[in-house]
Amino acid sequence: MPRIYGAEVAGLGKCLPSKCLTNKDLEKIIDTTDEWIQSRTGIKQRYVMGEGETLSDLCVVAAKQALDQANLHVDDIDMIICGTFTSDHKLPSLAALVQDKLGAKNTGAFDINAACTGFIYTLVTGAQFVRSGASKNVLVIGADCCSSQIDWEDRSTCVLFGDGASALVLRQHDDPNVGVQSSYFGSDGGGKESLWIEAGGSLMPVDEEVLKTKKHRVTMAGKDVFKFAINALSTSAKEVLSQEGLDSSDIKLLVPHQANSRIINAAAKRLDFSDEQIYLNIDKYGNTVAASVGLALRDSYDEGKFKSGDKLLIIGFGAGLSWGGTVINWSID
Ligand code: ACO
Repeated sequence: MPRIYGAEVAGLGKCLPSKCLTNKDLEKIIDTTDEWIQSRTGIKQRYVMGEGETLSDLCVVAAKQALDQANLHVDDIDMIICGTFTSDHKLPSLAALVQDKLGAKNTGAFDINAACTGFIYTLVTGAQFVRSGASKNVLVIGADCCSSQIDWEDRSTCVLFGDGASALVLRQHDDPNVGVQSSYFGSDGGGKESLWIEAGGSLMPVDEEVLKTKKHRVTMAGKDVFKFAINALSTSAKEVLSQEGLDSSDIKLLVPHQANSRIINAAAKRLDFSDEQIYLNIDKYGNTVAASVGLALRDSYDEGKFKSGDKLLIIGFGAGLSWGGTVINWSID
């Protein structure tokens, strides 16, 4: 039997752009209210990219924090994986840009596009490299700049999203029970139109007609996604817990993708989690797509919500449609 290692979470990092956009600011540019946004989503503000800021720069700041906490040098990284759908350029990958800006010389680099499930897909993929022994230290990044993809005149989507980057270092550990454990993923491409950007890919390159019809911007069937999301979060949690032989009482903190506090609370209720077990920071950042779970991990860690020996349940959903989850056995203080 080949040896399995532990994929320990050894460091966390985050970076938000400089420009904070509150609900009150949005009231000035579209027909909405702070009251509507807060009561329907839990969001109070979000950060968006300012003049001269780039997603790869945010990733580098987040990555350096995670490496510092893990006590590792950039040359120790042997794989960089970014979850994103909004790299600085169409080509190359965001991971390649981050590798260059970090000056990391001993690493491969690639992106994963799983929209809002991106952080979880990226984390679990990174963990497979470490658990198998193929890599010793993997830099996992979740980052998106959704402000560049939304229609700022569409009040049903533009109030929901924010930009940001989060990073996490996975370090090889002798004990396979440390770090990232079982995972579960689902996909339903048949639901692609409920949350998509129709143009800009190979089927419909951007031209004048696309620009006129705004098919290069995010569109979403909010109610459909809402219903799907509650089921997707509950299924992901149940599948992972059952693989691990756990129930909700074994979990110190549920760290879900932050899309809407009503979705999270509805799913958590079905799963029998208490309010104290659920982490929410959507009020500060909005939905940051692939960055969201990593931002929630960093903030909840900083707030002392868990410590070495605790179990965390991570769940998410997003465009695709996609969904999934994993359990982390936390090991650092
Ligand atoms: N401000 C004020 N009113 C608004 C706004 C707004 N920003 N947006 C919509 N409304 C109006 C609508 O026009 C509608 O008015 P009407 O009744 O006169 O027609 C009314 O508010 C109700 O709209 P609904 O769509 O029914 O509102 P709902 O309660 O469903 O909430 C929301 C909408 C928040 C979008 C919800 O459906 C949702 O969160 N869906 C899931 C979205 C999600 O999680 N997306 C992320 C997926 S992850 C990824 O991969 C990116």
